[in-house]
Amino acid sequence: MARKKIALIGAGMIGGTLAHLAAKKEMGDIVLFDIAEGIPQGKALDLSQCGPIEGFDAKITGTNDYADIAGADVVIVTAGVPRKPGMSRDDLIGINLGVMKQVGEGLKKYAPDAFVICITNPLDAMVWALREFSGLPHNKVVGMAGVLDSARFATFLAWEFGVSVKDVNAFVLGGHGDTMVPVTSYTTVSGIPVDDLVAMGKSTKARIDEIVTRTRGGGGEIVGLLKTGSAFYAPATSAIAMAEAYLGDQKRILPCAVYVEGKYGLDGLYVGVPTVIGANGVEEVIEIALDDEAKQNFQVSVDAVKELLVACKAIDGSLG
Ligand code: APR
Repeated sequence: MARKKIALIGAGMIGGTLAHLAAKKEMGDIVLFDIAEGIPQGKALDLSQCGPIEGFDAKITGTNDYADIAGADVVIVTAGVPRKPGMSRDDLIGINLGVMKQVGEGLKKYAPDAFVICITNPLDAMVWALREFSGLPHNKVVGMAGVLDSARFATFLAWEFGVSVKDVNAFVLGGHGDTMVPVTSYTTVSGIPVDDLVAMGKSTKARIDEIVTRTRGGGGEIVGLLKTGSAFYAPATSAIAMAEAYLGDQKRILPCAVYVEGKYGLDGLYVGVPTVIGANGVEEVIEIALDDEAKQNFQVSVDAVKELLVACKAIDGSLG
């Protein structure tokens, strides 16, 4: 059987990390695409030379030509600009919307059957725009945010409770911005709800609230430390988990930015919700019951995403 083909659009910090992870896991042959000449070629060569040491079989190539992504099974998009300190994800919209248009056209022409995972920010608006520009089916175009946000929440909770991160199952809904909704009622440690752990005296409501706030600003905290760009290891790791769920038909329930129509009171919007990912891409959007507070917070997040879509439409008139 032919190897799978993974195309990475954007060969920057996340793109390079994605290529390394995909190669190490032998997920398939990898094509790194970027508009910057030499960068994808150089990274592909460097990464290829890890093969003999790490013992992976994967052909890694770099290109500036969309034709080379033809027939890709999975495409992961990180093309665009990242944040600098003091910027919000929303400040990237002007530049990154134009990038999504180019990428969308490349996908439409060369990879219309791929499962596409968008990482470029502001995520919920960019994945929506990428879907619009590419014309691919909604179930094959998803955004990576919830897996990362949940991982950030889980990391902080594991530190707080002094337990293994493996035992924390954290849950974050909504848009990938400061309005995201970490939901403690669906967050457990080995099946024990966080609220019960607080009742047992393992932490306090105030500490959990601080962790929720830190999770919401988790990306900005890293931007503030790095100063020259944004997080890349955990975003890449998160997207790889989503790609594996698709390629392996794993039916994993992952929080992803997906097109929601008819659930959560939404009539067609990309936003983060629990999603079954399998061989058909998005196989199901799971609608969970939310308490009043979570419902209200989710609405604030949805409204923030809607505002971004209005801004996108104002910038590019073709986005009806
Ligand atoms: N087509 C293809 N690649 C592009 C284009 C384009 N039109 N415009 C920019 N790029 C490339 C850049 O040349 C660069 O190599 O996208 C790459 C982005 O890499 P980085 O600047 O290192 O950014 P990275 O940290 O990988 O983040 C990428 O993901 O999480 C988001 O907010 C982040 O939007 C940002 C994106």
